[in-house]
Amino acid sequence: MKIKAPAGMEDLLPGRLAHWRKVEDKVRRVMATYGYGEIRTPMLEATSLFVRSVGEATDIVEKEMYTFGHANAPEDSVTLRPELTAPIVRACLEHSLFAKRPFHKLFYLGAAFRRERPQKGRLRQFHQFGVEALGSHSPVLDAETIELAVAVLEALGLREHTVRLNSTGCATCRNSFRVVLRERLTPDLERVCEDCRSRFERNVFRVLDCKRDSCRPVIQRLPSIQEHLCADCRGHHAVVTATLGEHGIPFTPDPLLVRGLDYYTRTVYELTYPTLGAQNAIGGGGRYDNLVAEFGGPPTGAVGFAMGIERVMLALDAQAGGRDANEDHITPVAVYLCTVEDALRAPAFAFARRVRQAGIPCDLDFEGKSLKAQMRNADRLRARWVVMFGPEEWSRGAAKLKSMQEKSEETLPLDAIVARIQAADTGSTARTP
Ligand code: HAM
Repeated sequence: MKIKAPAGMEDLLPGRLAHWRKVEDKVRRVMATYGYGEIRTPMLEATSLFVRSVGEATDIVEKEMYTFGHANAPEDSVTLRPELTAPIVRACLEHSLFAKRPFHKLFYLGAAFRRERPQKGRLRQFHQFGVEALGSHSPVLDAETIELAVAVLEALGLREHTVRLNSTGCATCRNSFRVVLRERLTPDLERVCEDCRSRFERNVFRVLDCKRDSCRPVIQRLPSIQEHLCADCRGHHAVVTATLGEHGIPFTPDPLLVRGLDYYTRTVYELTYPTLGAQNAIGGGGRYDNLVAEFGGPPTGAVGFAMGIERVMLALDAQAGGRDANEDHITPVAVYLCTVEDALRAPAFAFARRVRQAGIPCDLDFEGKSLKAQMRNADRLRARWVVMFGPEEWSRGAAKLKSMQEKSEETLPLDAIVARIQAADTGSTARTP
């Protein structure tokens, strides 16, 4: 029986990872230009962290978490993180960051886990990069996180995104809107799907997010939270939209946008990308002003977003006309060592160590291949230099250095070869003896 990777979990082979690394490098560069410092937290967290933050009546907590623990010791229950915002809030509090400074800008790259039905762009182990700016209620910061999300996509060469924006208000607006929503939905309960009927009971705002065509006519007739925002929330939202406008960042107001996590307050947004098909959300985020206090910290305004790296990669693939996820990958070397006879393999092996210690990528044959096959390997690995160990040169403590680019060769003492390569590779014309 062939053992395969678990459903919805992908291997990343070196060819694919080479593209991932480029994306990660660009993400890191843009994050640094906006003043974010990197943070890493564990893959596993206490289950209660997600139940209390993401919310008990959300799909993530109800159906999608990978939870481990003992039935008779629920306090020991741990969960593979389905998202990284709550873990970062936990880490900030655990390390008393707000006692040191009231404001922190943190970014992350890492795996997250949700037991969803796998399909293109929807995995059970996926990766996110994201930011969390903690310690400010300023609506300008909301706009800056959106600007940053757009800047990342643009740095990656993705330009067809749409930003959908809404405000979900604060606890006060939501309490009154909840009553209105339930009143207006009650007569139509028979006409919405079973999930919506269950959301009606448990978390009525989530009805607004139902994607089923059969529910849309009912949902489209529902009132918008925009009409129920309190004066403070309306003012906050007006500054967010005005700031985006001033900075020329296009967005589409979407009064039906609600997010699948309960911790949001006021600003929520989603970035969609047209070529992604059914899973077209490339990123999402918003403000969560109650979360730090919920976990025992001081009242702290906070806002952030996360993007799915797999979805970013799919968008880039589509733009590049499709890519083979398992494409072969060469890790090139600068120097390849060839041996003319078996007895010279040990000295060549020792010499490889000297080359590598000088920071020069180097490789050699371990299979006793013919000289011709060794040279083919040097070509395949795109070596610029071949060091040829032959018995005659070796007897004089020397070897032949071949430049593959210039098609030239010279015999040099072993001690001089590394310096000669370094001199040539840094563009110097200086020759060592
Ligand atoms: P989220 O919308 O649940 O938000 O996830 C953010 C992004 O992660 C999505 O837009 C999508 O690109 C990617 N993603 C989510 N689930 C999957 C999946 N099963 N397979 C592949 N990609 C997926 C959050 O996680 C919030 N913590 C974002 C946030 C940060 N809000 C404030 N700060």
